[in-house]
Amino acid sequence: MDHFLYQDGILHAEDVPITEIAAAVGTPFYVYSTATLTRHFQLFQEALDGLDHLICFAVKSNSNQAVLSHMASLGAGMDVVSGGEYRRAKAAGVPGERIVFSGVGKTEEEMRLALEGGIRQFNVESEPEMARLSRVAMELGTVAPITVRVNPDVDAKTHAKIATGRKEDKFGIPIARAREVYALAASLPGLEVIGIDVHIGSQLTDLDPFETAYTKVAELTEQLRADGHTIRRLDLGGGLGIPYERSNTAPPLPIEYGAVIKRTVGHLGCEIEIEPGRLISGNAGLLVASTIYVKNGEDRDFLILDAAMNDLIRPAMYGAYHDIVPVVEAAPGAEQTPYDIVGPVCESGDTFAKQRNLPPVAEADLIAFRSAGAYGAVMSSEYNTRALIPEVMVKDDQFAVIRARPSFDDMINRDTLPPWA
Ligand code: LLP
Repeated sequence: MDHFLYQDGILHAEDVPITEIAAAVGTPFYVYSTATLTRHFQLFQEALDGLDHLICFAVKSNSNQAVLSHMASLGAGMDVVSGGEYRRAKAAGVPGERIVFSGVGKTEEEMRLALEGGIRQFNVESEPEMARLSRVAMELGTVAPITVRVNPDVDAKTHAKIATGRKEDKFGIPIARAREVYALAASLPGLEVIGIDVHIGSQLTDLDPFETAYTKVAELTEQLRADGHTIRRLDLGGGLGIPYERSNTAPPLPIEYGAVIKRTVGHLGCEIEIEPGRLISGNAGLLVASTIYVKNGEDRDFLILDAAMNDLIRPAMYGAYHDIVPVVEAAPGAEQTPYDIVGPVCESGDTFAKQRNLPPVAEADLIAFRSAGAYGAVMSSEYNTRALIPEVMVKDDQFAVIRARPSFDDMINRDTLPPWA
């Protein structure tokens, strides 16, 4: 459930008409609902109720400081994958002991930053990374708390580009080699092994892969404990999917996901961490665009919007489906017309949807993309020298710009000429 509903025929973000925001900030823009972020976080809290747990919001899904500050105010920890995200989490007021550092390519600088600024744990993904972290921690005279990310070789049955838990994926160490790698970790100075990490992919719409992976993690926990390691924390990753297509069957709910966690690893007495991103921020955001032209092509009609693939790359990159709706509701019984919905960028891939049915659209009509709060703004670029679009946050009947549109001068002046020019 989200808080983007029609009231008196106009799509609202909570109690604010989208038309009002569009008039104030201009299109295109992203808009986020505070109430939806809160609700989704609370669903996970309820799902893990009874377990010693921490929900670490995956910063990569939406890293706006206002979103992170709000998540921090709810008590969320953060899952970061770069020094930049670590800095964002700290700037949002998240203490180091609530930040976990994931990712296959942590640099020495990033390790240092987190060790000096405080860190809950590093999720280590390879033996060379382990050796590097050991050395950096020793140099700083400190100890790095670590889990090892294991790759359980489970097919998450999601899009190939966002599956991470199969043998051929670059992530983690093969679970079959885990005992050997934990023995290495225990032998290295400057590291404290505290648990196990697993993350099998994103936009999972079936609980079975989670169940299989977490069962393997439970078995591994017992094995590693028998080998003499302290396993007191399990980081179970993110990945629970959201309903992008309202007509499809809804993916499992957090409460059902929580039941899988309790059933598979609940008996181990471990502290449980999860790293959800999309389920918290995805349906908490819309991308709002305006129609520049309605172009009647030879065999189809095109809606040419002022938003493009540089603003929301998911359709071009993953063939992702986003619900696209008019901001001003059509009269009841209005006929549906199929449109190809495209942006102005000079690539055929700049297509949001093909032959999508909408009530008739005219120039300047506002269009909203649902489920755009995760992996939307964060993946945007300035391709075609299109300015990054503003982000707006809504709370009840108030709204605020939480990232302003840069000026073209700002963009152009970031470049400098070489001295010989
Ligand atoms: N933890 C780790 C280690 C991850 O790699 C990810 C996502 C998450 C947590 C959060 O997963 P979530 O709960 O959001 O599914 N750009 C793609 C998604 C990439 C996900 C990458 N890793 C998209 O737009 O679908």
